[in-house]
Amino acid sequence: MRGVDIDAEKIAAARRTVGDRANIRFDVADATALPADPDAADGPYAAITVADVFYLIPPDKQRELIATCYRLLAPGGVFLWKSQVRRPRWKYAITRGQEWLMTHLGPTQGHGLYFLDTDESLAALRDAGFGAVALPLRSWRPYTDVLFIAYKLG
Ligand SMILES: C[S@@+](CC[C@H](N)C(=O)[O-])C[C@H]1O[C@@H](n2cnc3c(N)ncnc32)[C@H](O)[C@@H]1O
Repeated sequence: MRGVDIDAEKIAAARRTVGDRANIRFDVADATALPADPDAADGPYAAITVADVFYLIPPDKQRELIATCYRLLAPGGVFLWKSQVRRPRWKYAITRGQEWLMTHLGPTQGHGLYFLDTDESLAALRDAGFGAVALPLRSWRPYTDVLFIAYKLG
């Protein structure tokens, strides 16, 4: 298993959880610069997960990263993408306000907020070749969380 984040402190915290499990590796890396060649990235992978990262990446780079994930997966592999969308509007205002604070006060690295809506996200997944569905994570939480479940068909 390999995990990446651009923030060295978060990777250091993740590494402290590994113990003696030799098959887990965490690297400081810009996800938008990952090699799309499975051999160069220790792939292909059976699964790739992303939680709450894409909104920090401009839309064209998000689409490139989705295409990279597609290429890094083995046939039948699954891409689980937990994201936030722009609806409902009142929850989006809270989601966006919180993340504006997180990026401006320092805890989260990033230079801009780029939330794709559900239809844009599904289109990006399908354009990359995935079969995909959106699962809204409805709860009392004031966030617009959606889990996109995408399969590399064939
Ligand atoms: C809201 S945090 C989520 C962290 C973690 N995925 C989780 O679910 O707890 C967003 C993370 O995206 C990371 N990030 C932002 N841009 C990135 C990039 N281009 N490549 C890799 N990580 C990035 C930030 O450093 C931050 O740790």
